[in-house]
Amino acid sequence: MPRSRGLGFRLATLAAAGLVAVVALPGSRPAQADPPDPDGHDFGDPLPGLTADELARFHAGKEAFEEVEGVADGVGPVFNGSSCAECHNGEATGGGNATLSTRIGAVVDGRFDPLVRFGGPTLQTRGIVGLQGYEYAGEVVPPEATVVARRRSPPLFGLGLVDAVPDDTFRELARQQHDRDPATAGRPNLVPDLRTGDTVVGRFGWKAGLGSLFDFAADAYKDEMGITVPGFIRTPDGRTIGEENAPQGLHDLLRYNPVESPNEPDVEDIVLFTDFMTFLAPPPRGEVTREVRAGEAVFHRIGCATCHVPTLRTGRHEVRALDRVRFHPYSDFLLHDMGALGDGIEDGSGRGSEMRTAPLWGLLTQPAYLHDGRAATIEDAILLHDGQGRNARNRYLDLKRANKRALSAFLNSL
Ligand code: HEC
Ligand code: HEC
Repeated sequence: MPRSRGLGFRLATLAAAGLVAVVALPGSRPAQADPPDPDGHDFGDPLPGLTADELARFHAGKEAFEEVEGVADGVGPVFNGSSCAECHNGEATGGGNATLSTRIGAVVDGRFDPLVRFGGPTLQTRGIVGLQGYEYAGEVVPPEATVVARRRSPPLFGLGLVDAVPDDTFRELARQQHDRDPATAGRPNLVPDLRTGDTVVGRFGWKAGLGSLFDFAADAYKDEMGITVPGFIRTPDGRTIGEENAPQGLHDLLRYNPVESPNEPDVEDIVLFTDFMTFLAPPPRGEVTREVRAGEAVFHRIGCATCHVPTLRTGRHEVRALDRVRFHPYSDFLLHDMGALGDGIEDGSGRGSEMRTAPLWGLLTQPAYLHDGRAATIEDAILLHDGQGRNARNRYLDLKRANKRALSAFLNSL
């Protein structure tokens, strides 16, 4: 079950935290926190400033995103969920929840094998039953897998803004990081666009393995819901998005698949999901108190902001609400070598130890932290930073208690 904590809880926490005195922070950058959300929007709301037509697309898309689909719609033979909202519903439709999805692989002679022939890299743990006497068992981790990683269902609030950031922005960020300190610099995950095959900058998923919301919707429709929409290209790890997932990789079983869906799924569904996510507003920001501002300065001073970049800007966009907008995801969406925190899976050009900087907006609403939810608290998540994040973690450990408290107030306000 998702742990749902609303804004009321957040404000109460901050009010309590506000009793703590703010300490002077010599050498810190001026705090740049924005005032409390001027639009007063809530989780799950559409972006402010949409046209009537865009708003209608948001609502139609939301309905599709929430729709529970069955065998007649093409679900199966194996799948993980029967609606997008099943895994993305914390706080509101589009939020994250504690559902974990499993990735597998094996490293043979130093090379990563996504085990497509055994049902990898994404397992579907449920199978359709009782259809014309056919029964499909859900997939299990095959003995061949030497890497097994769980990934948490993240919130999708504000991702339309991330989608609208030009590829060059991420390339430039990586360059700047490299100029400043090659030891902690990230790099973009270069992945194919699933429609054109062109190389684009990946930004979605815990490994930034996909480049657009449209591509993610197609991929999730197939890999999480078992609904295949023809017409997509093969990914570098050998999956074909336009082909049915074979249960446990056994293509022979597919030949007996009796499912001829009367409602042939088409690209229209993917467009609807994409519309909903594109127009979904970022999570509302909590109150910015004096302590929150002090915590923000600490965040910059100990190097968190190197990767958790506070502000990005969208490029030119036909949707006015997405056109050259500054927003605050607290991520560079680049891959960083996180040492022991890496999940061992290779994704696009992303290596086993590399993970995408997790955006920190809406942090308070997460049911658990880090890609597999291994951290129960925000502090645990910080302490598990390894590899390129290790120095920042060590600087966190050296903080005085009041500074830790201020940082915590700041993180809880995002
Ligand atoms: C069974 C649970 C489940 C279902 C059903 C599901 N998702 Fe997800 N979703 C996940 C998980 C787990 C991840 C993280 C995947 C990864 O990093 O590889 C994710 C990630 C995403 C992301 C990337 C978020 C980010 O921060 O970059 C998008 C976009 C997304 N899902 C959209 C959808 C859509 C659209 C649907 C319906 C077609 C859907 N999901 C159905 C579990 C699910
Ligand atoms: C070198 C880049 C880097 C630095 C520096 C860094 N982080 Fe992270 N952070 C990441 C990455 C990558 C992840 C995702 C790791 C994962 O889930 O496996 C992450 C995840 C997190 C999460 C968990 C988010 C979630 O939704 O689960 C929190 C909280 C966090 N970082 C806070 C901080 C704080 C506070 C600092 C400064 C002390 C910091 N980070 C410094 C890269 C960095």
